[in-house]
Amino acid sequence: MTAPLGVGVVGTGVISEEYLRNLTSFPDLRVVAVADLDPARAAASAARHGVPRSSTVDELLADPGIGLVVNLTVPAAHVEVSLAAIEAGKHVWVEKPLGLDLRGARALLDLAARRGLRVACAPDTLLGAGWQTARRAVDAGVIGEPRTALALFQSPGPESWHPAPEFLFQPGGGPLLDMGPYYLTGLVHLLGPIRRVTATGGRARDTRVIGSGPRAGAEFPVTVHTAVSALVEFERGGSAQAVFSFDSAVHRTGFVEVSGTLGTVVLPDPNRFDGETAVHLFDGGQTLAPQGHGATRGTGVLELARSIRAGEPERASGELAYHVLDAMLAIEDSIALGRPVDVGSTVEPPPALLADWDPHAVSPAAR
Ligand SMILES: NC(=O)c1ccc[n+]([C@@H]2O[C@H](COP(=O)([O-])OP(=O)(O)OC[C@H]3O[C@@H](n4cnc5c(N)ncnc54)[C@H](O)[C@@H]3O)[C@@H](O)[C@H]2O)c1
Repeated sequence: MTAPLGVGVVGTGVISEEYLRNLTSFPDLRVVAVADLDPARAAASAARHGVPRSSTVDELLADPGIGLVVNLTVPAAHVEVSLAAIEAGKHVWVEKPLGLDLRGARALLDLAARRGLRVACAPDTLLGAGWQTARRAVDAGVIGEPRTALALFQSPGPESWHPAPEFLFQPGGGPLLDMGPYYLTGLVHLLGPIRRVTATGGRARDTRVIGSGPRAGAEFPVTVHTAVSALVEFERGGSAQAVFSFDSAVHRTGFVEVSGTLGTVVLPDPNRFDGETAVHLFDGGQTLAPQGHGATRGTGVLELARSIRAGEPERASGELAYHVLDAMLAIEDSIALGRPVDVGSTVEPPPALLADWDPHAVSPAAR
């Protein structure tokens, strides 16, 4: 009989709320402690979610009761905090993007491999009932062989609602590094690894203004492209067009369409866990309601923990996130160089989850 896996959460900002609601509801996990650079924020988070302790990051990493660290810090700290967790002997779940550059991301994955530890990475939205229902239908051949895709994310940008949005307009952010992981990881699930990209990019404004929270009204600099258009070619053949923009007054988000030899599938928003799938065939079509669990952010942490205990590969793997980071940085390189850029890494897309995968069940190993 093995106890639930002890989890420590580092970074108790905006997205930690949704994570902690879910992580504290999964019987296979026990959230033991939270930590943040801001101790008051960590303490308030622990109190809100009934977590036994809030502490410094070092104290959390030294806790022998924690086997898995959930890193919800800003992108610039993802590699540093995750490396420290691996050094401390913990498995890691990290928010996206995996890192700011390939060197840091590779160093993290290599150290984890040497230590026999796992690094898994967001997004886990693709493990939700919505996307997984679509994924199982495509795997079953509903549209034949996937060949082309269209992915669109266009919005005015997150500075209106995020109280500390600067990181979303610095390296590691922008619509490509912030939103790209959902869309590009989704495309890799369906069309396989990316072999080459060609892209253009620009920036409508050099500064933005915080729209909410205690610092509302403050202006801050934008140092990344805020509109990116990319042509993505896949190793297996086939291609996708993708638009990632924080420069649009029109909200057109969550759009992913994949066409195959028999028809077209319009997928749910890859940044959500639910949503219907529309299947268009040349002689009709159907709508697929999501089949599966209703949990949200934190699902990937649980899937990682169960995979560790089962001795199986986790689905939201560090290598998948590394490949998507590689593709996103290749898109940046293509914008800078004005030519197509090859993507050096490759990855095998993970298998679909079974429709009856239940996050609230108690695994035999956790009883
Ligand atoms: N906000 C969202 O809607 C959202 C959604 C999905 C994913 N994410 C991802 O989650 C991550 C966090 O985003 P957020 O919106 O919660 O940001 P946030 O700024 O609200 O919170 C980040 C927290 O991390 C803490 N932190 C930063 N560096 C640290 C360090 N070295 N050690 C300990 N704590 C540290 C900060 O003090 C802050 O409390 C980002 O990678 C983001 O891309 C955010």
